[in-house]
Amino acid sequence: MRVDIGGCGIEVEDRGKGMAVVLLHGFPLGAGTWTPIRPGVAQAARLITPDLRGFGRSDKPAGCYSMDALADDVAAIADALGLDRFVLGGHSMGGYVALAFAERHPHRLAGLILIDTRAEADTAEGLGRRRAVIERVRRDGGAGFLDEFVPNLLCAATRARAPRHVAELRAIAAEVPDHVLIGCQQGMMARHDRLSLLPALDVPALVLVGQDDTITPPEASRAMAAALPRATLVVIPEAGHSPMVERPMATADAIVTFLRGIPPEAVES
Ligand code: MLT
Repeated sequence: MRVDIGGCGIEVEDRGKGMAVVLLHGFPLGAGTWTPIRPGVAQAARLITPDLRGFGRSDKPAGCYSMDALADDVAAIADALGLDRFVLGGHSMGGYVALAFAERHPHRLAGLILIDTRAEADTAEGLGRRRAVIERVRRDGGAGFLDEFVPNLLCAATRARAPRHVAELRAIAAEVPDHVLIGCQQGMMARHDRLSLLPALDVPALVLVGQDDTITPPEASRAMAAALPRATLVVIPEAGHSPMVERPMATADAIVTFLRGIPPEAVES
């Protein structure tokens, strides 16, 4: 379905029945990243996967893509679907958006799923890397950056075992125009530290990470799980930054097991 948010069309896939769980994709991807786990999760829950603004089949306005604005889009999507409280999850940049949502709309959160992400703001080194990406995309266009960046979304073992996954993710990333690549880097640069928010998030939480993630390494997930009052940490072996693609069955199992532990009355629509 398509949700209109102030003139910006957002494409949302809504599949399955039962407890509502919204999953937000990472950068520079789209809702297509969830394809490998969609059947497994949607047989146990109502799985809602938007293409965030700028990505996939959603509209792609100009400007900075702040995590707060993307989080407010999630609230508007939930309004359009009639969801009051729901489980929210995010992968990497989607996790930054989920944490922004948890800060801005805490009463709407019935549970949290954080996949290969981190709660800390960028370090000085990280900010420098993003500035270099912005300059490069402005100067040369995004294709060269994406050719280099996308393979890192998978661990070396996955790239060797299933090289098609690199091509699949590169095809999803090809839908992201240069101004969105830049706008998201600016938005991620501007996000503030949310580690101090975590102790206040008194909802069931699943923190899931690929053992060989080099972009948001398992230490970042351990720190989040330690700071959250009700977190379960799941480390997926033989996976890097994208376990939903690299180890879809183990990832879907972890999500479904987590959802089964949430009392149905915690979710309201
Ligand atoms: C992502 O996978 O969403 C991004 O790599 C996150 C980031 O750049 O911090």
